[in-house]
Amino acid sequence: RADLKAILLEINKIAAQYFYVQLKSSKGEAGLSYLKRRELSDDTIKAFGLGYSNKYSDDLYRYLKERGYKDEMIAKAGLISIDERHGAHDKFWNRVMFPIMDVNSRVIGFGGRVMGDAKPKYLNSPETLIFDKSRNLYGLNRARSTRKPYFLLCEGYMDVISLHQAGFTNAVASLGTALTPGHASLIKRYVKEVYLTYDSDEAGTKAALRAIPILKDVGITAKIIRMEPYKDPDEFIKNLGAEAFEERIGRARNGFMFSLEVLERDYDMHSPEGKTDFMREVARRLGEFEEEIERNNYIEAVAQAYHVGYEELRKLVVKTAVQQG
Ligand code: GTP
Ligand code: MN
Ligand code: MN
Ligand code: MN
Ligand code: MN
Repeated sequence: RADLKAILLEINKIAAQYFYVQLKSSKGEAGLSYLKRRELSDDTIKAFGLGYSNKYSDDLYRYLKERGYKDEMIAKAGLISIDERHGAHDKFWNRVMFPIMDVNSRVIGFGGRVMGDAKPKYLNSPETLIFDKSRNLYGLNRARSTRKPYFLLCEGYMDVISLHQAGFTNAVASLGTALTPGHASLIKRYVKEVYLTYDSDEAGTKAALRAIPILKDVGITAKIIRMEPYKDPDEFIKNLGAEAFEERIGRARNGFMFSLEVLERDYDMHSPEGKTDFMREVARRLGEFEEEIERNNYIEAVAQAYHVGYEELRKLVVKTAVQQG
């Protein structure tokens, strides 16, 4: 089994090298010009080992076969699919390739992006013996050596790469999945604070709200950076630059206060009934802070932000907690 893992890592490494060479060859022109259009430098392309999978659908397969790897191993590495009628063919073709590395920079899988609008936009390696999406983070192999006390946690490969290129070498992303407790524990080994820089859309907002308690559960403080008016960190950096992003980091919002801002949308905050109902729900959530000091600090912050008396709010929190048993 240990041997099998070593072989799968070897195959993935050779595949990454193959995709990189293709990108730099005449066959890879479409891929390279796509990455240039996205403003990635040669240094960045090299640092992240980006590549290109050719238009023909069994190039990598034949390359690996020539080097002596058996179909079964190449399939276990997640790089081919085998169907009875047509035999083996590459999983990735005509895509720009993002090798996914573990914390020790070993290639464990790939993400591949189409260069146009075709679907699916990204194709990812299936989970294999060496690739567990819920226990690895894109960019962690580089972010782990940051001197900053926090990570920037974003949604996509391109966000991580753009941020690193702009000097934010503490950026990581989950692998096209929601943040899991496994990710949170992994992050906790390096930092105790995370700035969530998810996409501005509804999906990104919801994902951020779900990530906050998962991080809190392992003792990580979450702050939120919003990317409006842009879609995600990649677009933000390209339009406004690194300094503007730095400024957003400085103005990051506390995770709990951010969750209340999102909650406001469900209430008519301009009517007394609406605002009262809102404050009842806020009081219920405040009651969930188990530590008294923390709870009181949040009661104070909420009282200030929503212009209600500290004592009244504190009483409401107690009353709500009692009612709920
Ligand atoms: P760009 O369009 O290249 O800037 O990508 P993006 O990262 O902004 O894309 P998006 O916000 O839509 O998705 C965020 C992340 O989710 C991506 O980096 C992928 O990891 C994953 N993802 C996006 N689209 C797909 C898809 O069609 N299939 C799968 N499996 N994952 C996807
Ligand atoms: Mn998408
Ligand atoms: Mn998104
Ligand atoms: Mn994007
Ligand atoms: Mn995005």
